[in-house]
Amino acid sequence: MAVTLDTLRKMKQAGQRIASLTAYDYSFARLLEAAAVDVVLVGDSLGNVIQGQATTVPVTLDEMVYHTRCVARGLERALLLADLPFMSYQESPQQALRSAGRLMKEGLAHMVKLEGGAAMAPTVEFLVERGVPVCGHLGLTPQSVHQLGGYKVQGRGEAAAQRLRDDALALQQAGAALLVLEAVPRALAAQLTRDLAIPTIGIGAGVDCDGQVLVLQDALGMNPTPARFVRNFLAGHDDLGAAIAAYVQAVKDGSFPAAEHGYD
Ligand code: KIV
Ligand code: NA
Repeated sequence: MAVTLDTLRKMKQAGQRIASLTAYDYSFARLLEAAAVDVVLVGDSLGNVIQGQATTVPVTLDEMVYHTRCVARGLERALLLADLPFMSYQESPQQALRSAGRLMKEGLAHMVKLEGGAAMAPTVEFLVERGVPVCGHLGLTPQSVHQLGGYKVQGRGEAAAQRLRDDALALQQAGAALLVLEAVPRALAAQLTRDLAIPTIGIGAGVDCDGQVLVLQDALGMNPTPARFVRNFLAGHDDLGAAIAAYVQAVKDGSFPAAEHGYD
């Protein structure tokens, strides 16, 4: 049965972990589908791993649409989530709606993801009221890397933690149905996961989130300088399908992420 927003909500309620990976093309989408990955994310991380750029900032909406459409052709059961790239939604709710419409109509995405907290809540509400499912993204938000001053853990200290809690609640209140938490302390991510009705998907956010996501190339050991939250799932496996299946299994049984993959 196809994974829907309702499926994800029920998985959270039942304590069943959600397994997510990125994909950018048809062949990998088929492998993820075969391994029963629940949510396939066409991330703007394609700027890094497909295009070789230093950040996700230059990624365009046309590029996201193209890769999303490629991935869509390889999927059947998985929920297809696509990133709104930098400056395709920040200008106005109307701009966000137009961009999301392209990801859904041309890319065949089921849901779109955008970065940012309370400031984006009116945009989230505008999209959701018009039939666009939205996933939030808080903590380390790579489109803001030049503002954050690098790729580093977020939400440390009481003031920053409180801001993150407020942002998460604002997004949920606005109608977001899913929330990615990137590079935040494990205890904070655990608390957010408990406090929110919507599922959380962690990356560098500890094992207590409702699900996990990794960049595919990272999970396959292709990154020469991986972040601490990455594990190489190809190690010890004979082929890509087995590696991806091992990732799904490790997420489902809670053996990934381990303590060494997180932040205190
Ligand atoms: O672009 C991406 O791959 C992402 C995930 C790391 C969450 O946003
Ligand atoms: Na992204």
